[in-house]
Amino acid sequence: MQNILTDQINYYRARADVYDESISSGLETFDIGKSLLSKLGKFDQILELACGTGIWTETLLNMGNHVTAVDAAPEMLKIAKEKFGDERITYQQADLFNWNPDKEYDLVFFANWLSHVPPNAVDDFLSKVKKSLRKNGVIAFVDQHAPSDADKAIAEKEIYAKRPLAGQEFTIIKVFYDLEDLERRLEGLRLKVSVEKFGENFFLMRGKQNE
Ligand SMILES: C[S@@+](CC[C@H](N)C(=O)[O-])C[C@H]1O[C@@H](n2cnc3c(N)ncnc32)[C@H](O)[C@@H]1O
Repeated sequence: MQNILTDQINYYRARADVYDESISSGLETFDIGKSLLSKLGKFDQILELACGTGIWTETLLNMGNHVTAVDAAPEMLKIAKEKFGDERITYQQADLFNWNPDKEYDLVFFANWLSHVPPNAVDDFLSKVKKSLRKNGVIAFVDQHAPSDADKAIAEKEIYAKRPLAGQEFTIIKVFYDLEDLERRLEGLRLKVSVEKFGENFFLMRGKQNE
């Protein structure tokens, strides 16, 4: 498993330069997700995990005072920094499987990341996220609840996908988590959960700390 998690980082490091172009056909769907995300309100300190090139960071900057943007791939962080500078963003390079929150946040957000977390690591990851919440803090995340045709074409077994890139082939984790299962996991962390589907196969899930 460790090899696959390393391959997954290497895949995104290699893809950083072409990432924005490669997801351009999905931008309209993400615009719907961004407007749902904006409706969560205003926050002071925001943590964005697996920020990539910053596709969602601009929306987060409009929702809060300061964003801490974390990703394992320096190439991704470099592109995000070129786009948004560092006046209201702190960039942190970290492997989220060996990460611990450095402080508490009002909103923790991640997009297209949970599907890359293997099932046996989901609870550990979500409880770390919960630990990084301030009182009345919110967790929100966007992901796919079902595979697209393109996902089906490269699926390998239940949790792996083979991703070809520039003459190489990488193996990554790709899991389409059941929404009810995710809701139960968040409720187990004493979060009040709501979920909204958008586009063909995306969702935004929100978990708010019970008072
Ligand atoms: C599908 S991209 C999502 C990027 C961005 N959130 C978006 O929606 O466009 C997955 C991101 O996870 C990052 N990543 C992969 N493995 C990681 C790890 N172990 N720790 C932190 N980030 C990781 C990749 O570098 C990549 O930026």
